Amino acid sequence: MLDLQGRNINKLRISVSEACNMACSYCVTGINEHQVAPDQLPMQDLLKLATLLHRHAGIEKIRITGGEPLLYRELVPFVEGLSESGLEDIGMTSNGLLLARSVPSLAKAGLKHINLSLDSLQPERFRKMGRAGSLRSTLDGIDASLEAGLRLKINMVVVKGENEDEVADVLEFGIARGIEVRFLELMRMGPLYQNGDFKLVTMEEMLNSIRERFSVTTAQADEDSTSQRFWVPGGYFGIIPNESAPFCSTCSRLRLTSNGKLIGCLSNPIETSIRHLLDHHDPEMELKSLVMESVSYKKSQFTGSDLVMSKVGG
Ligand code: 5AD
Repeated sequence: MLDLQGRNINKLRISVSEACNMACSYCVTGINEHQVAPDQLPMQDLLKLATLLHRHAGIEKIRITGGEPLLYRELVPFVEGLSESGLEDIGMTSNGLLLARSVPSLAKAGLKHINLSLDSLQPERFRKMGRAGSLRSTLDGIDASLEAGLRLKINMVVVKGENEDEVADVLEFGIARGIEVRFLELMRMGPLYQNGDFKLVTMEEMLNSIRERFSVTTAQADEDSTSQRFWVPGGYFGIIPNESAPFCSTCSRLRLTSNGKLIGCLSNPIETSIRHLLDHHDPEMELKSLVMESVSYKKSQFTGSDLVMSKVGG
């Protein structure tokens, strides 16, 4: 579906649950902020909405997010259902803590790729930044995913004074395993931003610290990619310059919350509920118009956000 600015909206992020087993300091003030929505839809209903969006609204690519999707009990049947409806491009964003044991069944169900959040390779710092979890579990999840043949990317949110000294280490870790690492600039959302303690590390600062260890060449990224891509001997990496070069002009995303609401833009909290369409015999026309409405809330520039990431999943 084309929006008024000519953006082709074909990617859907589905936050299957707002629950998370970590509480990263840039995302929430504490683990209590990650609560399952009281009106969360049953899995079959969420699946039905996703299928309708695929069939009638031009959605071709799905990314399952959260919260932490691996806490969602019905994740495997959910992925199976998406595959059965003809969706081929199914990915997931996860912190990887629970990945090792579930990855074979997820791969069998049709999951193709995972963006794994990994902010530190130092066990104590990993726990401090995430306020929970163990680095070992996430590393086991990475190994298991590679074994299962899934495509992996690593997402590292770089935070001043916390993990900026690990940028080249994480890149080296990725290159050794054939995994593309993407370094994320902080976004103007979440507690660091709300409390006026925005610990931004810019793309240029990241590149400078990578250049201390690697020789960096600029590479070509996909048209609708959110990241700028680079090459170093051994592999590619990306930087998502949320702040220094926002990518809104090529944004192709729509979001579906666990309680059946569309959110067109991270920088605009307006929700468009589509859950009532579950009771409609022939929802196509109304669905199309509600998607148009939600897409019309997409801004041309990111101006900060009051949304909680676990509701929208990125
Ligand atoms: N700034 C940048 N990235 C963030 N993420 C969550 N909150 C922020 C923020 N304020 C990241 C997560 C995950 C992805 C969905 O977004 O770490 O990798």
